[in-house]
Amino acid sequence: MKTIRVNTGRPYDILIGRSLLDQTGAQCRAALPRAKKMAVVTDSTVPPLYLERVEASLKQAGFQVLDCVVPAGESSKNVENLAALWEKFMAFGLTRTDAVTALGGGMVGDLAGFAAATILRGVSYVQIPTTLLAQVDSSVGGKTAIDLMAGKNLAGVFWQPSLVLMDPDVLNTLPDRDFSSGMAEVIKYGCIADRNFFDFLTAHASREAVMDEIESILYTCCDIKRNVVEEDERDTGLRMILNFGHTIGHAFERLGNYETWTHGEAVAAGMWDAAQIGFGLGISGGDDDGMQELLNLLKAFHLPTHIDRLDDGLDGKAWNAVVEAVGLDKKNSGDELTMIFLKRIGEAVAVTRKKDTVLENLAAIYGRS
Ligand code: GLY
Repeated sequence: MKTIRVNTGRPYDILIGRSLLDQTGAQCRAALPRAKKMAVVTDSTVPPLYLERVEASLKQAGFQVLDCVVPAGESSKNVENLAALWEKFMAFGLTRTDAVTALGGGMVGDLAGFAAATILRGVSYVQIPTTLLAQVDSSVGGKTAIDLMAGKNLAGVFWQPSLVLMDPDVLNTLPDRDFSSGMAEVIKYGCIADRNFFDFLTAHASREAVMDEIESILYTCCDIKRNVVEEDERDTGLRMILNFGHTIGHAFERLGNYETWTHGEAVAAGMWDAAQIGFGLGISGGDDDGMQELLNLLKAFHLPTHIDRLDDGLDGKAWNAVVEAVGLDKKNSGDELTMIFLKRIGEAVAVTRKKDTVLENLAAIYGRS
């Protein structure tokens, strides 16, 4: 088992190891010695696969367990489900020394984390991510949220978990498309912080090869994120580099109504577009910048690098929707936009430019200049 200590305001461990799911109870007991009750929040895809094992392990360690199952899908991350969880926790008799477990992907982690952060003015929670995307990104760093009609993740708080328990074996049941989606975030870490890791991924460019090395891959991704989050827990500076590919990616997600493309697919296209815009702005462009390798690696994992609906010849609605969505990005200030670019693979930089300049460069990629 590998352990990463995250030294945020409230420190916690990330544990990574095969079959760790069966140690859930013992590990939760060690991290939360005073807790008697555990509310396990999960989504409808998880119970047939892992809920029984987690529940049995928790009960064996002396926890009283409540299951709270929400329908799978991003649309469950809403205020109605949040309020329903609060009521269930109270009916269960949860107290401030008890805890919540988020067992599932990013949606479950965000929703359960926000519910834990807000019930009784905050109770502890444990993240047990069951998707690659949640393991390498959303379960670490304490961002919790629900979606509003106005947009994704708009109501939330920073609330660090007390433990993150990562069992790579759970990835064996992940559909290929979701595995690839998670790989977009894995590749992102190589892009923004670690050229050697990027090269390692290039040498392991298939699901099988990644699974052979999964523990060390999860460790590297989580350790890069730990480093960033320790430096900038509240997302006011360095943490922004984790958003490489996300400004445009979020716009694509919104264009597809959060259904056409997964988060990772939208981020993959957003990373490749950001790489090209960076080239256009003269931020990358050295002989060794590695941008062609980025394109090859994204393609090796069957990730999209181009959003066909934006091609020239359409009626412009899709383009206008993307322009609007880029304008909603939290890193807009007046007519300027701060976006993450790569100087080269392994080195990210936040650059502020006129929003129109960024959009002109994006338009050129899609044949609209
Ligand atoms: N997912 C980006 C962050 O945690 O800041």
